[in-house]
Amino acid sequence: MKILVTGGAGFIGSNYIRQVLAMEDGREIVNLDALTYAGNLENLKDIQDDSRYTFVKGDIGQRGDVERVFAEHRFDAVLNFAAESHVDRSLHVGVDAFIATNIQGTQNLLDASREHEVKRYLQVSTDEVYGSLGDEGYFTETTPLEPNNPYSATKAGADCLVRAAGHSHGLEVVTTRCSNNFGPFQFPEKLIPLMIANAQEDKPLPVYGDGLHVRDWIFVEDHCAGIDLVLREGKADEVYNMGGNYDVPNIEIVRNILQILGKPESLITYVEDRPGHDRRYAIDSSKIQRELSWERAYAFPQAIEKTVEWYLSNDGWLQNLRSGDYQDYYRMLYGERSDAAEGLDLA
Ligand code: NAD
Ligand code: DAU
Repeated sequence: MKILVTGGAGFIGSNYIRQVLAMEDGREIVNLDALTYAGNLENLKDIQDDSRYTFVKGDIGQRGDVERVFAEHRFDAVLNFAAESHVDRSLHVGVDAFIATNIQGTQNLLDASREHEVKRYLQVSTDEVYGSLGDEGYFTETTPLEPNNPYSATKAGADCLVRAAGHSHGLEVVTTRCSNNFGPFQFPEKLIPLMIANAQEDKPLPVYGDGLHVRDWIFVEDHCAGIDLVLREGKADEVYNMGGNYDVPNIEIVRNILQILGKPESLITYVEDRPGHDRRYAIDSSKIQRELSWERAYAFPQAIEKTVEWYLSNDGWLQNLRSGDYQDYYRMLYGERSDAAEGLDLA
């Protein structure tokens, strides 16, 4: 069986590829990745010479790139991880790349999958498509799509295109919607790796607004295991939610990281809030638990310790990413946000 993984040089995709190859179940993987700022072949260094693995540099937003890879390989399944994935960039850098990759890129993959009679297409989506919850309740698969930021709007658009390809054209499609992932190889623009990196360097930890926005956190390996289960056993045309059953305010996550690192809470710096910041996400994973017997293997306290240890012992990986363009991005995003702009400056 040969599968196409798009975005496999990113955080979740690289963890997924490593997990599948470790299963040694005869699967071959082609990784199509454009190597944007978030794509990093270092993430796959340990498996780059595996004969079951092929890397192809290409952009899913470009039909020619997609057609080329489908012409060279016969895929049994396609898993679309590739995306512009950061909410803050969609708000402060620009939305064009989000539309090109998340929407046009998804449609290009759906078209090629249909044309080349791929047996199954899996869309890696997100709980952000549901918008924000009030004080109570959980996202279920039937919660209406109410995306509130440009990133989640493009992911919701993609989910609708996937649904339409299944409904109108009979392509066998499945979709997963997961909560916030954390773990090794996450780009240090996202909350957990950013806070670990800043705390380790005794730099301020920029917490948006009052720090009481709630996210559900899942260890990346649990998400990847769920994706693989949905690929193999999920029902066509269905959506499966996944979460870590650990929905807490951001400030609690930040304090936990400081406590693991033995750093003072005085590093916490409240900064201007994210515009339109979704207040609360919490996810009901009962469908995938009931129908596919998925369970998360990692509890948050154990997984966050493992994650912090990984970043400490992979400081070279982190520092490579925190140099160059990253510093310009950091200054742009955080410099204007706080009276403590000087203190937030990485330079
Ligand atoms: P990431 O930003 O770490 O990685 C994205 C990868 O996609 C990178 O390797 C990048 O080079 C590649 N890519 C971007 N544009 C591309 C293009 N046009 N063509 C080919 N490759 C391209 O993202 P991630 O956090 O690993 O997220 C992966 C997927 O999971 C995304 O679809 C995201 O929406 C979804 N998701 C993420 C989370 C999370 O917490 N990170 C939670 C739920 C769902
Ligand atoms: O819910 C799933 C989504 O989780 C995925 O679809 C996205 O791809 C992924 O990036 C993530 O989105 P969030 O916006 O929730 O993740 P982020 O790590 O950027 O932020 C988590 C929370 O922490 C959010 O409430 C904003 C807050 N935050 C974030 C950063 C980067 C801060 O307070 N300070 C920060 O510096």
